[in-house]
Amino acid sequence: MREGAGGKPARAEAAGDAAAKKRACKLFLIKCNPKNFDRIGYGNIKDLILFYSKTTTPIWNEPREKYTEKDFEKLFPKKDKQGRRYATVPIHAPGETENGKSSQPFKGILPPKGRHWRVNIETLEQWDKEGLIEWSSTGNPRKIIFADEREGKRVQDIWEYKDPQYPTYPTEKNADMLDLIVRTSSNENSIVLDCFCGSGTTLKSAQINNRKWIGIDQSEHAIKATIDKLGTIEGNLFVAKPDYQFIELTDTFSNCQQKLNTNKQEVLI
Ligand SMILES: C[S@@+](CC[C@H](N)C(=O)[O-])C[C@H]1O[C@@H](n2cnc3c(N)ncnc32)[C@H](O)[C@@H]1O
Repeated sequence: MREGAGGKPARAEAAGDAAAKKRACKLFLIKCNPKNFDRIGYGNIKDLILFYSKTTTPIWNEPREKYTEKDFEKLFPKKDKQGRRYATVPIHAPGETENGKSSQPFKGILPPKGRHWRVNIETLEQWDKEGLIEWSSTGNPRKIIFADEREGKRVQDIWEYKDPQYPTYPTEKNADMLDLIVRTSSNENSIVLDCFCGSGTTLKSAQINNRKWIGIDQSEHAIKATIDKLGTIEGNLFVAKPDYQFIELTDTFSNCQQKLNTNKQEVLI
């Protein structure tokens, strides 16, 4: 994962992997703090993150977002006698099944033409017994879905995160945003690599979420900011205090390249 500049899918191209490029199809539009531009034009409050994966089965821990009060009112407009918010959904779906259980009558009613019951008749009977079916005044049954039983809503591809108000590093990113990315796209003990780690926001996120991590940056200021940030992790029963090795590469890039041509071992250390 890398922040995009200009939104071009340059990362996948750089990787030279045509398949990865093909999968680099998800653009996340991030709303951030307005930039102080003098130019004539609309304000610029968005950043782009390019999401792509080398495989077709990347780690994906489906994230869920809490419903807001407004979401509850909109999505679960009804209340039962106890004040529990709920919505109702049809109990039939498109398509007919021939001689199947999902086309049998339920309480003497057949599914509408061209549709079948979403579940078998026994389940419908059970739902009805448990009061989970709402019958309309015209005798139309619908399934009750309670708001407080939902896990939360699916995270969408427009995010609103503010960059820190008092950054410890000029381009420091929002820690909650990195937490979301790290938790969604890695598992405990996965290795998270941030080759442009800046102030180490991703690394801190990886550490507090029990991932292993590697961070790289060419700037001394960034390295100091990263060490400081990692130092703020107290460590407790669930999160280990960072225990890492700091490797300083003193060689210039061209020296490394030269060594690579002559002695691979030395450069790979
Ligand atoms: C946008 S900042 C990363 C900010 C980071 N996500 C944070 O929250 O603090 C990008 C970083 O990439 C580093 N960088 C740029 N080119 C680099 C290179 N070729 N090798 C290593 N680091 C590089 C810069 O020094 C800078 O710290």
